[in-house]
Amino acid sequence: MFDARYSTRTHVSGALRPENVGATVVLAGWIHRRRDHGGLVFIDLRDRSGIVQCVFDPETAGEAFVTAERVRPEWVVSLVGVVRARPEGTVNDHMPTGAIEVVVSEATVLNEALTPPFEIDAGIETDEITRLKYRYIDIRRPEVLAAMVLRDRVTQRFRKSLEHRGFIEVETPILGKSTPEGARDFLVPSRMSPGEFYALPQSPQLYKQLLMVAGVERYYQIARCFRDEDLRADRQPEFTQVDIEMSFIRQDDILTMMEEVMHEVMQEAGHSLPVPLPRITWAAAMDRFGSDRPDTRFGMELVCLSDVFASSGFKVFSGALASGGRVKGLCAKGAGDWPRSRMDALNQLALDNGAKGLAWVAFTSAGEVKGPVAKFFSEDEVAGMKAALDAGPGDLVCMVADTHALANEVLGTIRLRLADELDVPRVGFSTLWVVDFPLLKWDADEARWTANHHPFTRPFDEHAATMETDPGAVLSYSYDLVMNGLEIGGGTLRIHDPKVQARVLALLGMREEEASEQFGFLLDALAHGAPPHGGIALGLDRLVMLLAGAPSIRDVIAFPKTSSGGCPLTGAPASVSARQLHEVRLKAE
Ligand code: AMO
Ligand code: AMP
Repeated sequence: MFDARYSTRTHVSGALRPENVGATVVLAGWIHRRRDHGGLVFIDLRDRSGIVQCVFDPETAGEAFVTAERVRPEWVVSLVGVVRARPEGTVNDHMPTGAIEVVVSEATVLNEALTPPFEIDAGIETDEITRLKYRYIDIRRPEVLAAMVLRDRVTQRFRKSLEHRGFIEVETPILGKSTPEGARDFLVPSRMSPGEFYALPQSPQLYKQLLMVAGVERYYQIARCFRDEDLRADRQPEFTQVDIEMSFIRQDDILTMMEEVMHEVMQEAGHSLPVPLPRITWAAAMDRFGSDRPDTRFGMELVCLSDVFASSGFKVFSGALASGGRVKGLCAKGAGDWPRSRMDALNQLALDNGAKGLAWVAFTSAGEVKGPVAKFFSEDEVAGMKAALDAGPGDLVCMVADTHALANEVLGTIRLRLADELDVPRVGFSTLWVVDFPLLKWDADEARWTANHHPFTRPFDEHAATMETDPGAVLSYSYDLVMNGLEIGGGTLRIHDPKVQARVLALLGMREEEASEQFGFLLDALAHGAPPHGGIALGLDRLVMLLAGAPSIRDVIAFPKTSSGGCPLTGAPASVSARQLHEVRLKAE
């Protein structure tokens, strides 16, 4: 509740309504706009609650009128006046306070202000660097403030929902030891131990597992995490997780609990979340959407065409099939009449993503069949392709022949590009679980297995026996929460059996000394009576971004970094004095 208590005001501007007509009010805030209307001066006064129109009449306002003529946008003022109904014909239905105005009798300038670098109303057209440099002006824009209010509501709701279910919030260290999360660490040199470094946490992963061993049973934390990775619209070097860990649970328990909590959070933000959420296995997500975070707000699903082309004369296809690969395709409705240049761009996108090419067949509205490879296909094959993909006049079929994994991935990228280019409607929220990720993934560059999530992820019990003989086939108790094609959360059940943990570390090629040096403390803890446990972390910034309908997580962070990792407001990162460097025994290059 934001009101005038504990302040010099009697009312806040945005809350004034016809019920207040006749009341004498003391307001304070910023000059949003000033208009001279042949004698009368109008000032829109803005505070956190909103904007109200204030009128200065030279006949009655006296000294205040002189002040009104002098003030400029963004000056800070206090006004005393009487609320009245706006005269006939001047009511503004677009403003919550649009039915009334304040007739001012006293005006005090509390502070003058430099001319703002951009108009509050024009903020969105201002380039982002300028907005971030003057973020304290930018936050005065109602939509930026609204995003911060929404973020607070969402955060508070998480706290309430989790407390309600027996979770306690525990803070974990920021100065810690590097966690094997996979991104690059931010390092902090230690003055007291020269040559040694703390790492900022990529997540509280290891600490929350220690808390489970400690018997906390239900932990959560609104936790700041730090990852030194290349930034994108949905990535920041520091971001916030709603971090959760539970003991004595099955995978279903955590998914159900999260669905309930998410339902409450979405409700708080004015959206509904139909639960239980759909669950799709990782394998099915890759097969149908070519992505482990499928955007299910639209179809255009991938279809296997290997049977259609089983005896194809097109060598590219028959070759791929003969070597155990697949032919997969999708149908883009309404792209059949696109010019060649757009198909070439799609082909290039496929090549950039590692495919050997994109075989496309365009069925034009005029009934022609076009495409450089169309001539290689028999009538039966064309008919089979059309039937399998439900393609007809005006549609474009895109196909990739390759290993199953690569064909899926490339078509997954093509699918999203086509949806963008065709402006496929993507409205509302589509939220689902992707479950059963493989435990490991093959790192071709380093020619070794790496952890898909992190090394503490528990393999399916029934796959434990074949872990060493068929590592690629081992699935894990793991789940990602996906909303509108974005991964907004992910978690796993953890290994609580030190013997299984040792085998997984061995598969990852981690020598015992190496493991014990990196996180021996966790392995020790697991040997001191670890309960079965698991958890999840939600990306709070990403979730609020989606709920706010914002295009970037920067829009829902008070003081975000630019895409090059800098803060235009403070100038961070910046060089430090030689003396500071000397204290931590470092030399700048
Ligand atoms: P993970 O690494 O998947 O899991 O992170 C969890 C969620 O955090 C969000 N996220 C980010 N948001 C903004 N900027 C970033 N750079 C960024 N990186 C990640 C994503 C992601 O789903 N400890 C595990 C969780 C667990 O197993 O319990 C972890 O950190 O929305
Ligand atoms: P090429 O025989 O390499 O000239 O390829 C003929 C056409 O098939 C080109 O349009 C390529 O983009 C396409 N193509 C090549 N390799 C593949 C593949 N593995 N999957 C799908 N299309 C391909």
